[in-house]
Amino acid sequence: MTESLDHDFYESEDPIWNPALLAIPVPGIRRMVNMAAEMDDVIHLSIGQPDMPAPDNIIEATVDALRAGQTGYTMDAGLPELLDALADYYGKRYKRSLSPENVIVTTGATEAIYLALTATSAPGREFIVPDPAFMLYAPLIRMNGGVVRAIPTRPENNHQLDPQEVIDAIRMDTYAIVLNSPSNPTGTVYPRETIEAIVEEAAYRGVYVISDEVYDHLLYDGKTYPSVLNCCSDLDHVMVISSFSKTYSMPGMRIGWLIASQGAIKKLRRYHMFTTTVANTPCQWAGVEALRGDHRFVDDMVQEYTRRRNRLIELIDETPHLTGYKPDGAFYVFPSLPEGVNGGNVALRLLRETGVCTIPGETFGNSSANALRISYSTSMDNIERAFERMIPWFSKQDFS
Ligand SMILES: Cc1ncc(COP(=O)(O)O)c(C=O)c1O
Repeated sequence: MTESLDHDFYESEDPIWNPALLAIPVPGIRRMVNMAAEMDDVIHLSIGQPDMPAPDNIIEATVDALRAGQTGYTMDAGLPELLDALADYYGKRYKRSLSPENVIVTTGATEAIYLALTATSAPGREFIVPDPAFMLYAPLIRMNGGVVRAIPTRPENNHQLDPQEVIDAIRMDTYAIVLNSPSNPTGTVYPRETIEAIVEEAAYRGVYVISDEVYDHLLYDGKTYPSVLNCCSDLDHVMVISSFSKTYSMPGMRIGWLIASQGAIKKLRRYHMFTTTVANTPCQWAGVEALRGDHRFVDDMVQEYTRRRNRLIELIDETPHLTGYKPDGAFYVFPSLPEGVNGGNVALRLLRETGVCTIPGETFGNSSANALRISYSTSMDNIERAFERMIPWFSKQDFS
């Protein structure tokens, strides 16, 4: 797609289009990637998917399922074997009793987010969302008439969320709080106390916590993951979303899920039937293998990401005008440029003049226009080569 197509879509006065589509912003990511596609010798620090191939046992399980004729629809909630495996896996991981009726399998976490937000958002309802945040949440809320109450997080605080700020933002019209830890774009992991304080107050006030946990295995320095599922006494006010995309390097296989109370799952199942019907059948079998098979792949991947993160932090420290911090999870760093500098312009010039593609902070909300998202889901060699271009370029800039 080209820039002009974007323009046509957003400027068109053709009455066929639902005005709700205007809630979808021109995606900064696509603008950058489109421009990069027309250039030679681009180094991408823009990637939002794992760069390692999916493990062999998962590929084989998919092929076996196809050969065994597993090409039909599954049950609407998901393949029973995968629902069992997920309930079992989460039950053991967080030492709580979960049944397959607490789970729905979706087409990636994206569909789970879509179901959770569009099934609850309505005119007059408020949703608390950290800013910056993954770019899907706010538009999905707004498309359905809901209002986003953004809670800015700050780089000097490693983009940690202040639970008291979240609690103070809850009002009569608040329906849900959206959390994403580890975060895209900041890599920030919320400590257990933050999650507990928010979940407890939300349950008390009858507000849902919708927790996107797709990076729940990408945690560094031996930290254990504080999941919302581990911090709530019952499931009455939580929806926990995750997928195989990041953990098993299988984003194109499109298997995600949502865990909630049985009542919530029943409602979402009906909605799911009217959106995607069911998730991809052979890839649901791959998911069963991912959960029940060997987990060494994940450990190796975490080790490699740790190595890259550590080096990237050193390189950001060596780069004039960029201020970084040490993220604890995911595969992103979100360094800041000096106050008032437009990250969108810097990212465009950086791409044009050095061939290094990053993502401007404005893609993820209004509070971080002076930031750049840098992904380390690329080889160490690419990271080194990118900074060999970036450091001299930034040295020549005068942002005052
Ligand atoms: C925070 C977050 N949630 C959800 C997704 C989408 O995941 P999936 O591939 O499972 O749809 C992404 C992908 O980048 C993400 O970063």
